Amino acid sequence: MRDPIHLLKDIDLTQARILELLELATQLKIAKKQGTERARLSRNNIALIFEKPSTRTRSAFEVAAQDQGAGVTYVDPASSHMGVSESVEDTARVLGRLYDGIAFRGFQQATVETLARYAGVPVWNALTDLWHPTQALADMLTMREHAGKPLTEVSVCYLGDGHNNVARSLLMTGALLGLDVRIAAPAVLHPDPAAVEAAAHAATRSGGHIMATDDIDSAVRGADFLYTDVWVSMGEPDSEWDARVEALRPFRIDANMLARTGNPKTQFLHCLPSVHDDTTTLGRHLHEQYGLNGVEVSDDVFRSPRSLVFEQAENRMHTIKAVLAMSLDPADRRTEGC
Ligand code: CP
Repeated sequence: MRDPIHLLKDIDLTQARILELLELATQLKIAKKQGTERARLSRNNIALIFEKPSTRTRSAFEVAAQDQGAGVTYVDPASSHMGVSESVEDTARVLGRLYDGIAFRGFQQATVETLARYAGVPVWNALTDLWHPTQALADMLTMREHAGKPLTEVSVCYLGDGHNNVARSLLMTGALLGLDVRIAAPAVLHPDPAAVEAAAHAATRSGGHIMATDDIDSAVRGADFLYTDVWVSMGEPDSEWDARVEALRPFRIDANMLARTGNPKTQFLHCLPSVHDDTTTLGRHLHEQYGLNGVEVSDDVFRSPRSLVFEQAENRMHTIKAVLAMSLDPADRRTEGC
């Protein structure tokens, strides 16, 4: 029996594997739009164990699985024993006998790694404290579709909380694919040094370039894409907002920030959800508290023709479908880890 094909963290991926996944995602996207998609995963069943809320990732896994003929069980934070009265190891051993694959979203990278160690079936990271690999795949597909040039010639600048999972996955996956990836953040919110070192090593081999700096102008100069995320991530305490708003205000993406790139074609990316106006409870609260109507990005940029955020959100599904197919479909199944 071959080892299961997991997707646990971007750092495990190879350039060849990411390119295979992007190519497969593109084929699957075309097939879905043309109505020619072939269900490759009938008789498969997939469990989604989510300790944190999700709109895109959960929906993307569910639709991708259903399009491919697989059954899905969603396990919300309150409806299993895992970690409360049953260990992660025991849960993995049980679910691995019932399901063909398990997606996990939660607080700790260690949990998804324990699931993978004991389940005996593919395990996919749907976001942990450290990595968000399925997001990075959708980001790469979106840039590939909209850059108008090869990814090896693309520059992307992420502004904001450079220490979070989205920034880390973007940095690592971008470096593996040979992009010019820049993280613009205050020094206290730079990516973990070990992640920067791993990305730098990957960039040396791929011909890419990486930068983590607090110098906004050098980071955004000429960038093809500006990317941001919420300033306080899921799982972080609300008490962080005071310090984050103070530290990150200069990194907010608005029309002036787009102009600072000097590139009239710079496009905008965001993994979502976004605080781009005051129509949500959080947006209203932050507007009242800090006078920011739209926090990490202004509403005009978010809604502008330069914004690719909903293309990016759609691509979560096509790329996740490629991950499922590569892990589970004998025709697409590869011999090494995803
Ligand atoms: N980008 C992302 O992971 O979105 P969800 O939290 O809605 O899944």
